[in-house]
Amino acid sequence: MTRLVAPHLRHQESYLTASDEFLASREQRDGDGDWVHEPEPGYAGFSFTRESLRDPEEFARFVALRRRARDDDAPRRHAWTPVTFLWMVVGDEYVGSMAIRHRLTDRLLEEGGHIGYSVRPTARRRGHASRALARALVLAHGVVDGPSVLVTCLEENVGSRAVIEGNGGEYEDSRNGVRRYWIPTRPA
Ligand SMILES: CC(C)(COP(=O)(O)OP(=O)(O)OC[C@H]1O[C@@H](n2cnc3c(N)ncnc32)[C@H](O)[C@@H]1OP(=O)(O)O)[C@@H](O)C(=O)NCCC(=O)NCCS
Repeated sequence: MTRLVAPHLRHQESYLTASDEFLASREQRDGDGDWVHEPEPGYAGFSFTRESLRDPEEFARFVALRRRARDDDAPRRHAWTPVTFLWMVVGDEYVGSMAIRHRLTDRLLEEGGHIGYSVRPTARRRGHASRALARALVLAHGVVDGPSVLVTCLEENVGSRAVIEGNGGEYEDSRNGVRRYWIPTRPA
């Protein structure tokens, strides 16, 4: 079954093959975070590529950055919020990504929401996203900035809409083609 775990070196191979699927599909990879952050004053940024992530040491550096991003004192882009990055796995195989953003910035309030996710194209329609979101609602409890999380999807994204509504998402409104839902977090 789907487990939601902190990024780990043991998932390197399947993370990379999944990355090939995402790159080939040209879809946005929600909930996985960027591979490149340009440096800013006071922030060194980072830069990974599909090729560089094949190197176990670089992949370890990538995993460490992803795991650290949840900490309030982690270096990050100006005005960005701490993020808990999680990977959906079956056994040791990576099947998708999920990000829990701890606080809503102005932009996240409009369209990105607290939680983003994506499932690798070859692992879809098996309930991974639905189960992962259910688990994320527990993990987000007491971590995000309120009793409920905002989860959003494009109007035309029927899959994501089903995932959100299946997890009890309460529709608030649509803004610029983005459907906005609130879901209470759940105590463990
Ligand atoms: C949206 C996405 C995360 C769904 O992941 P998934 O693991 O396939 O979702 P699930 O298997 O949990 O599906 C949940 C429900 O949505 C339905 N569904 C999923 N994809 C669908 C699609 N493309 N069309 C119609 N229904 C779909 C499923 O049938 C299921 O409904 P059911 O329980 O009534 O059978 C995945 O398609 C994806 O990664 N898309 C690209 C990135 C993205 O859109 N992320 C979300 C941004 S808001």
